[in-house]
Amino acid sequence: MSRVRRADAAGLAAAVGALRAGELVGMPTETVYGLAAIIDPAHPDAVERIFTAKGRPADNPLIVHLEAMESLGGVARTVTPLAHRLATACWPGPLTLVLDASDAVPRTVTAGLDTVAVRVPDHPVALALLRELDAPIAAPSANRSGRPSPTLAAHVEAEFGAEVALVLDGGPADIGLESTVVDVRGEVPVVLRPGAIDAEMLAEIAGGVDHATSPASTSASPGTRYRHYAPDCRVHLLAPDSAVSFASDIAASGAAVGLVAAGLEDLDRRVTVLARPTDAADLARVLYASLREAEVLGLDDLVVASVEETGIGRAVMDRLRRAAGRR
Ligand code: TXA
Ligand code: MG
Repeated sequence: MSRVRRADAAGLAAAVGALRAGELVGMPTETVYGLAAIIDPAHPDAVERIFTAKGRPADNPLIVHLEAMESLGGVARTVTPLAHRLATACWPGPLTLVLDASDAVPRTVTAGLDTVAVRVPDHPVALALLRELDAPIAAPSANRSGRPSPTLAAHVEAEFGAEVALVLDGGPADIGLESTVVDVRGEVPVVLRPGAIDAEMLAEIAGGVDHATSPASTSASPGTRYRHYAPDCRVHLLAPDSAVSFASDIAASGAAVGLVAAGLEDLDRRVTVLARPTDAADLARVLYASLREAEVLGLDDLVVASVEETGIGRAVMDRLRRAAGRR
């Protein structure tokens, strides 16, 4: 029987019951689906179950989800003026803030770090769940470690089956890429993972922005060290004007090829077109589903046309390079 449940009153009540019993629940958010566990001193095992189910390295910390900004003081030791400013401007929304952690945050959540990553998701189902649970939720993306993040309830079920008590169906994720992660302990936000809240927006709100580029600062966001988003087929990232000819060439040599690109002129008929995104935001929405579909169809190669690295395009290209195994 399917574990996907409608997010009506009965579905929410079942999810709250499961979380209170220390079980895992698939939770929709505006970015991607999360694998939720209650943060509760009475259930230390719940958060540990996330690491086991995902096969997640124990040194990769989880994001704490809150229902409202007012609870931030409970998980952060110090709410810096910068954090306050960004939270006010962007929450609920796809922005995760890294701050010094309060003693109330179990170190299983932070993977032993003294900092905590926290956000208020902009999805009515996630917010209703947090409100009724009346406790913070730890939730990484609901994929096994190294795999594409889920953007549909069905993806979570395919990934975890009976390891989740249920998956609340919140429809397709609006954004399709994980939240922007920024270190806001200092005066200027430092981007640890790009997302839909882009550098230009952060600079506008905060008066400046930095990017974690050196190996030392990258280690401040442990998750970015690992290879990610990789499906079981080769992923090729091509300039828009050469994607079609490249896909056609490898299809002609006998490979099963998929394509994600807007223009299709002169495309070899053996190539399977998975999506025709109109811009970077549209590609963000369909990217992970396309990676999964390429697997389901048993394709050997997936060719994706690149986008400009401005706005959300920077985040899209970051994920695509990882999927293509280029970092
Ligand atoms: O959009 C999202 O953020 C989704 C939804 C479900 O909220 N969640 C998500 O979680 O993408 P996850 O676990 O897949 O990615 C969390 C990222 C990882 O790169 C992790 O290393 C980083 O946030 N992170 C967590 N805590 C951190 C901390 N204290 N300092 C630096 N980076 C941290
Ligand atoms: Mg993830």
